[in-house]
Amino acid sequence: MSELDDIQKLLSPKKESERKETTVKNALDTVKTANESFSDLGIIESSEGLLGLISEKRVSNEKVIESYGNVEIVDVGKDLYQYRVRIPNLTTADHEIIQSIQKIATKIIDIRKESVNAKIRRVALTEKIYDMVTKTRSLNVSETKMKAYADIISREMGGYGLFDYLLDDDQLEEVMVVPPKLDVYVFHRKHGMLLTNIIIESDGYVHNVIERIARDVSRRVDTNTPLLDARLPSGDRVNATLKPASVDGPSLTIRKFREDPYTIVDLVKFKTLNPEAAAFLWLAVEGMQGYPSNVLVSGGTSSGKTTFLNCISMFIRPTDRVLSIEDTAELKLPLEHWIRLETKPPSVEGTGEVSMDVLLKNSLRMRPDRIIVGEVRHDEAFTLFTAMNTGHQGSMGTIHANSSEETLVRLMSPPMNVPEQMATALNLIVVLNRINVPKIGLKRRVTEIAEVSGVKKPELHLLYSWDAERDEIVMIDKNSLTKKLIHRYSGVSLPQIDAEMDLRMQLLTEAAKTNISSLGAFSTFLRKYYEKQR
Ligand SMILES: Nc1ncnc2c1ncn2[C@@H]1O[C@H](COP(=O)(O)OP(=O)(O)O)[C@@H](O)[C@H]1O
Ligand SMILES: [Mg+2]
Repeated sequence: MSELDDIQKLLSPKKESERKETTVKNALDTVKTANESFSDLGIIESSEGLLGLISEKRVSNEKVIESYGNVEIVDVGKDLYQYRVRIPNLTTADHEIIQSIQKIATKIIDIRKESVNAKIRRVALTEKIYDMVTKTRSLNVSETKMKAYADIISREMGGYGLFDYLLDDDQLEEVMVVPPKLDVYVFHRKHGMLLTNIIIESDGYVHNVIERIARDVSRRVDTNTPLLDARLPSGDRVNATLKPASVDGPSLTIRKFREDPYTIVDLVKFKTLNPEAAAFLWLAVEGMQGYPSNVLVSGGTSSGKTTFLNCISMFIRPTDRVLSIEDTAELKLPLEHWIRLETKPPSVEGTGEVSMDVLLKNSLRMRPDRIIVGEVRHDEAFTLFTAMNTGHQGSMGTIHANSSEETLVRLMSPPMNVPEQMATALNLIVVLNRINVPKIGLKRRVTEIAEVSGVKKPELHLLYSWDAERDEIVMIDKNSLTKKLIHRYSGVSLPQIDAEMDLRMQLLTEAAKTNISSLGAFSTFLRKYYEKQR
C-alpha cells in the first residue's frame, strides 16, 4: 500500500477503526526535512523550500508604540519604526512536524479545487489541515499548537506565505518588497512607513509568491513578461516586477483593499476636508436634481483620488443608472443600478485587449445617467469630454495632476488632447495633496476646489483653497458658478440653494460627531434624506 493510501485511510472518518496510529508517524519520518540552524528565528519554509523568516530579534532599549493582535509597532531607535509580527512560540520539533504535515497535506489536498480568493482558500485549507492534524493521534500536541500548525501550513500552501500576516492587517494600506535586500515595508494608516521584521533570504521566495498571485488571476509572469498589474479576487491590487525589468531583483507592491470603504464622513473626521466643502460637493455632485456637475479629482500618486471619487460618487441618487469604467475595479458604491466595467490587458499573443476608450464608447450606448471613469490617462479623455459635451452631465473621474491649472494643461496636451473648447464642459476640479502638516505629519488634504468656466477655452475660478495656518480648506470666493447652474436648471432660488447647503453641512457635521461613517450607515443616512425630499 502506498503512503498516500495510508494517510487517506487515516483521514477518512468512516474507517476510524482501521486507523493505525503509527502510520502517520512513519509517513512523517520519511518526509522529514527540518532546517535546524534557523529554528531560533522562527523559520517558515515554503513548500518549495525557499526561505522566508520572521526575526524575533529585539534591541535593548526599544519602546513599544502600539500593540494589537499579533502586531507590535516598535521604536527601535532607527529612522523608521519597526512593524513586528509576533509569531507563535514554536520549537525546532514543531517546525519539523509542520514541514512534514505540509508535505503530506500537499499530496492529499487538491488546492486547485479551492477558491481563487486566497483568503477564502486559506480558511478552507486551515479547516482541512486542522481536521487532518486532530485525527493524527500520534501527534499528541495541544489544541493551540494544532491550530498554529494548520494556520502556518494553510498560509504556505494556499495563501501568499509570510505576506498573509500583513495582508490580514486592516491597518495597513500598502505592503512593499524592495530588492536587492528584499526588505519588506508596510505603510500603516496611523504610523506611516514601517520596516517589518520579515526577512526574505532569496529572490525565489518572492518569485514564488508572485507566481501564485499570477496563477490566481490567470496571468503569466516570467522573464518575457516581467510586469504584473492585477486586482486580486480579494480586491487587493498587486504590482510585481521581475528581472530584467527590475534590475536588482523582484519587487512586489500590494495596495490593500478596504472592505469597508471610507465615506465622506470619514474624510471629514480625518480633516481631509471640512463639512462646508463636503456639503458643497454634495450639492454639486447631486445637482439638486437639476444640474449635476462634471467633476475631475486630481492629485499625485496615492494622494487619495480614487478614494475621494468613491466618496463623492456615493452622493449620486439611487435612482440614477451608473456606469463605471476602470483599469482595475476599485470603486465600491452603495448603488444598485450600477454596472462596473473593467479593462482587459492584451493576452501574451498581444490580442484581446479591451481598452478604457473602447469601454467608454460602449458605455455611451448603454443609456447611462452617470459615467465614472477611474483614471483618465489617454485617448479616453477625448471620449469622456465628447460625452460631457453631448449632454452626459454628472460625469466624474480622476486624473494625475498636482493643481487645477496643471489638470487643464494635462487634459489639453498629448496624449489626452482634449480641444480647448471641449474642455469647458468640465465644471469642477478637486485637488488632493499629501501635505506635511506642521506638528502632525504627512496628511491627505483637499487643497483646491476650482470651477471651470469659459466658452471658447476653459478658465479657472478658485472657490476653496487650503489654508496652511488653519490646516483647513477655506472658501475664498462666495460667487459660485455651480450654484448658479443649479439655480438655472432646477428653478430653486439661490438663497434656497444656500440654505440647502447649510443644512447638508449641518447633517455632515452631525454625522461626523455621531460616527455615521461606515458605508452601510452613511448610505442609509443619505437614502433617508433623499426619500424625505421627495
Ligand atoms: N483622505 C484620506 N485619508 C486617509 N487615508 C486615505 C485618504 N484617501 C485615501 N486614503 C488611503 O490612501 C491609500 C491610497 O488611496 P487611493 O485613493 O487609492 O489613492 P490614488 O487613487 O490617488 O492613488 C489607500 O490605502 C486609502 O485607503
Ligand atoms: Mg487611484
